[in-house]
Amino acid sequence: MKRIGVFTSGGDAPGMNACIRAIVRTAVYNGLEVYGIRRGYNGMIKGDIFKMESLTVSNIIQKGGTILKSARSKEFTTKEGRQAAYEQLKAHGIEGLVAIGGDGTFTGANIFYEEFGIPTIGAPGTIDNDLYGTDYTIGYDTAVNTALDAIDKIRDTADSHERVFFVEVMGRDSGYIAIPCAIGGGAEIVMIPETDTSIDYVIDQLRAGWRRSKTSFIVIVAEGDEEGSATEIAAKVSQQIPDMDARVTILGHVQRGGAPSAADRMLASQLGIACVEGLLEGRTNEMAGIINRELVYTPFIETITKQKLINPNFTKMVDILSV
Ligand code: F6P
Repeated sequence: MKRIGVFTSGGDAPGMNACIRAIVRTAVYNGLEVYGIRRGYNGMIKGDIFKMESLTVSNIIQKGGTILKSARSKEFTTKEGRQAAYEQLKAHGIEGLVAIGGDGTFTGANIFYEEFGIPTIGAPGTIDNDLYGTDYTIGYDTAVNTALDAIDKIRDTADSHERVFFVEVMGRDSGYIAIPCAIGGGAEIVMIPETDTSIDYVIDQLRAGWRRSKTSFIVIVAEGDEEGSATEIAAKVSQQIPDMDARVTILGHVQRGGAPSAADRMLASQLGIACVEGLLEGRTNEMAGIINRELVYTPFIETITKQKLINPNFTKMVDILSV
């Protein structure tokens, strides 16, 4: 293998730049040529591809976002789109790929390999931390700390006005962001897609808190919770406790930006190196990850189909610590 391509795809995450940097520098270190592909699979289809050198990735390790831009590509889900992408890679002489992204990205890479035989190694880049095959994904630590910083501020005003705040954090399919926000932010209740937390339970907990003379509350809601969004949950609860002064804060995309934490820079650098080394070892269609501090490669098919379960003790911790 002489020439590889690198791209970021799906939702961006802090640390993606640190990972791009590690991939480019590891390629150069090993005498490989490396090409950047802009806007994920969309750029691959359009041929938005450029040569990267060691200096191309100077001064980016500390920056949020991704210098390669990111996108979710509809076109790549079609055979015609993938054919066009293959033609572009062939024209540029690219023999292997490093994909930084989540399960959608790896699903695409898997099909692409079956059809056209281009090997891909993945780095888990998503704030959601919901990928099987790694304890942590790139961007997760930063996103949690960004959310926690906001929750601390909400706590101040909740306390002053004796209010209940329903704070929505990201996590379409998982409560990985919500859990440390709830435990670290001292929340009374956490609502995540992995567990059933009924509106009745929320009401009981709030009433019980009042009886213990608590005057302000924080309820952390993962955006994918089965009871609905924080706005919907707050409305349902308010209906049953009309004298409760409730407010809703949706943290949203603020969680996706900002300078990556030290942990994310470290993880991104380690996994970036592992991706290129994996390709050089002849690996394909695997995601590099860290489990129990050890580097592991997990087949894409497992990262896509297996669920990374949340420790049920964490929701129990929220109950215990809010007594
Ligand atoms: O996958 C990361 C994530 O931030 C999810 O938590 C969220 O549901 C989704 O992306 C939002 O995606 P976008 O606004 O980019 O479409």
